[in-house]
Amino acid sequence: MHAEDNSSTAGESSRQFDFVVVANRLPVDRVVDDDGGAHWRRSPGGLVTALAPVMQGADGAWVGWHGAPDETVEPFTHGDTDIVPVALSTEDVELYYEGFSNATLWPLYHDVTARPEFHRTWWDSYRRVNRRFAEATAKVAAPGATVWVQDYQLQLVPRLLRQIRPDVTIGFFNHIPFPPPEIFAQLPWRREVLEGLLGADLLGFQRTSDARNFVRAALRLTGASSARVTVEGKPQTGKSQSLMVDPGLPTAHLCVAEAFPISIDVGQIEALAKDPAVVDRARQIRHELGNPRTILLGVDRLDYTKGIRHRLKAFEELLADGDLTVEEACLIQVASPSRERVDQYRRLREEIEGTVGHINGAFDTLGRTAVRYLHHSYPVEEMVALYLAADVMLVTALRDGMNLVAKEYVTARVDNTGALVLSEFTGAADQLKQAFLVNPHDIDGLKSAILAATTVSRPDAARRMRSMRRQVFTHDVQGWSTAFLDRLSDLTRAEGHRHE
Ligand code: G6P
Repeated sequence: MHAEDNSSTAGESSRQFDFVVVANRLPVDRVVDDDGGAHWRRSPGGLVTALAPVMQGADGAWVGWHGAPDETVEPFTHGDTDIVPVALSTEDVELYYEGFSNATLWPLYHDVTARPEFHRTWWDSYRRVNRRFAEATAKVAAPGATVWVQDYQLQLVPRLLRQIRPDVTIGFFNHIPFPPPEIFAQLPWRREVLEGLLGADLLGFQRTSDARNFVRAALRLTGASSARVTVEGKPQTGKSQSLMVDPGLPTAHLCVAEAFPISIDVGQIEALAKDPAVVDRARQIRHELGNPRTILLGVDRLDYTKGIRHRLKAFEELLADGDLTVEEACLIQVASPSRERVDQYRRLREEIEGTVGHINGAFDTLGRTAVRYLHHSYPVEEMVALYLAADVMLVTALRDGMNLVAKEYVTARVDNTGALVLSEFTGAADQLKQAFLVNPHDIDGLKSAILAATTVSRPDAARRMRSMRRQVFTHDVQGWSTAFLDRLSDLTRAEGHRHE
């Protein structure tokens, strides 16, 4: 593998950086050209966008896996970011990534929506790989650097890193929910995972309830005790909770847990929503579907947490009851391929595709299709065109850390039209309170909400959309990363926070 384009092989693996992001995935994807050559392209997605300005301002590096098993890639530079690849073998991918991360932690942290599997071999691999990430980070972090670790795949990194490098400041952000202690307690390695996280100075969660769940679990299952911290003379509020870790040991430190709801790059989505080519494409999509009165849209990774089956069931019943007809309504379901080697994801795909076939078989006419199902990923331009084409956006997740699709949809609706049906079990529901909020398990409630959204009056729709747009525009992803990093630096300056 070689790096081209605006990338250059650094050949200076001994360089150190003041700011280091650590994530399972790198912020770049390898793209193979027609002539067989390869280059790196910036990955789409909020986290990469959010951290780009921070990377530019600081002397920043990103430590992560490059996505190809059994390949070692030398550190290189891409734009303003120094890339430090961590290698994973085929076995690591199977045990640490597909196994422990995505078949143990993922279902456990999403309210056991699927049954988590507990295997000691997976745990051993998770530990080994977390250590590899911590060691790679310890090598590239400058003295006193700030390190920001991302997500559930790397929960042991904060403590491991603190043990090797007590001089660095460590933040951690959990992008997915943190479950109630009653569910978390099923994990055979619960104490080690909590202690891993407690190595951080600041732990960020999507919702206040996630931060609270973590603190309850830590108090119950580890030796940490609750503590009070005063930051810049301001006493702590209920929003943030502090824990004293390892009291009495020289490594004792305070760990603060707090909610920092992640968001999107509103500037990018809004600009695309106003781009004439994208607006044209939206018109074309509607035309190709035969200009139905109502287009409903679902956009998800094909994941069992997203409530795609519940959504299809509600839509099918609305057609069967005659509340909607294929002449007037069409559901577009984009389901992007995800974790396809994990059993539960394979089974889900078969089930969803079977259900779509069943609905279309029952309700299609020669000229109309009930559900347009697309098992693809699309570039952001096409996504925004779909948002513009859709009258009703359906976000019916059974559990979701945040759900950025909901935020993208409202951002794209520049003329304040459209309606959002949003599951109350998403982090986004804490902020987008003017959506048609639903409990997706309640199929009758879901059907009523979909009908209400399809028949909402223009003024009511505009009032709701205006208020949700205001929320997202004042809380974008740059605000998210700035808030987290400012808090982290305030905490490390706070008196008594650091125990030398
Ligand atoms: C969620 C997780 C991310 C993960 C993404 C895609 O958003 O919070 O950490 O990267 O899903 O999943 P994948 O397994 O493809 O990385």
